[in-house]
Amino acid sequence: MIPTLEWTPEGVRFLDQTRLPLEETYVLATSYQQVAEVITTMVVRGAPAIGVSAAMGLALGVKTSHATNVSALAAEFETMCRTLAATRPTAVNLFWAIERMKRRFTEEAARTGATPNSIRTALIAEALRMYDEDIAACRRMGSHGAALLPRSGGVLTHCNAGALATCGYGSALGVIRSAVEQGHQIHVYADETRPFLQGARLTAWELMHDGIPTTVLCDNMAASLMRQGKIQAVIVGADRIAANGDVANKIGTYTVAVLAKENGIPFYVAAPISTIDFACPDGSKIPIEQRSVREVTHIAGKQMTPDGVSIENPAFDVTPAKYVTGIITERGIARAPYEESLHSLASTETKVEV
Ligand code: MRU
Repeated sequence: MIPTLEWTPEGVRFLDQTRLPLEETYVLATSYQQVAEVITTMVVRGAPAIGVSAAMGLALGVKTSHATNVSALAAEFETMCRTLAATRPTAVNLFWAIERMKRRFTEEAARTGATPNSIRTALIAEALRMYDEDIAACRRMGSHGAALLPRSGGVLTHCNAGALATCGYGSALGVIRSAVEQGHQIHVYADETRPFLQGARLTAWELMHDGIPTTVLCDNMAASLMRQGKIQAVIVGADRIAANGDVANKIGTYTVAVLAKENGIPFYVAAPISTIDFACPDGSKIPIEQRSVREVTHIAGKQMTPDGVSIENPAFDVTPAKYVTGIITERGIARAPYEESLHSLASTETKVEV
């Protein structure tokens, strides 16, 4: 399996996604501040991977803290949570993971006889549990979603919602993997995904690693291929899904969704329940990360635009729910009206088995 991130006795080890596909190198974070830096600089990226990385960052923070009593550790833990929460604003999995670690801290701290060491043990175990649950959720999304993909044909994806964006297997690419495992003859079309090129660099690398036939497209080619009948379905991941089913995902996803509708092609989103933000009524309330203009002005270190020109670089866009054919989660598939279907999936008792 692709080792996106891993807890080790020395710290958290990350496959450096900024260097793929040309170099397969690793970064070892030995402090929570380094984990925050690794998330901000996109050494690790993708909503579920960001969430579990933050949880491991907190586990690492309490492990390496010198606090000798529970209240001193609690004060330091607050700072750790704030630092990690300030890394990337759109992926709600980040905040979900931090909240879950906070709850575990509070629970353990309230136990009679709790000590800094018992909290350290509890938080490390919780982060490892989240890692295992994430892989199990991806496999479940895969088995729920596989039948939605064509027995034979082209499937377009945008950005990277694969093993590299999760702890393993992937959300959107997990559904593709599962369909391929069940014998579907799928050819993947991967949008290159300017400006960070997650499709060209990461999706292509990851699918080739698994021997799944893949063609990389420039972002402006999808419409033409759809018109030619080369694409039978679209599947993408999500960074945050509002309660009404509006989906924030990598910039350019909205374009693909509109094109899919115009061409009569189903548009699916695969995401774990932790990506649904029920506190967010619709997509207009989702915070959109603005990244450095340099990602747009430069390609591989070479300037492409005139000095001083104005630049936009929103990292995500919002696809209105009306373009979404179905949302594949680890608990099943939600269909419109999403206010009801997402709620009923989230409130089902089924826990993801690890
Ligand atoms: O900026 P990134 O690379 O973190 O954006 C990633 C995406 O948009 C993914 O599609 C999303 O996080 C889902 S990953 C399973």
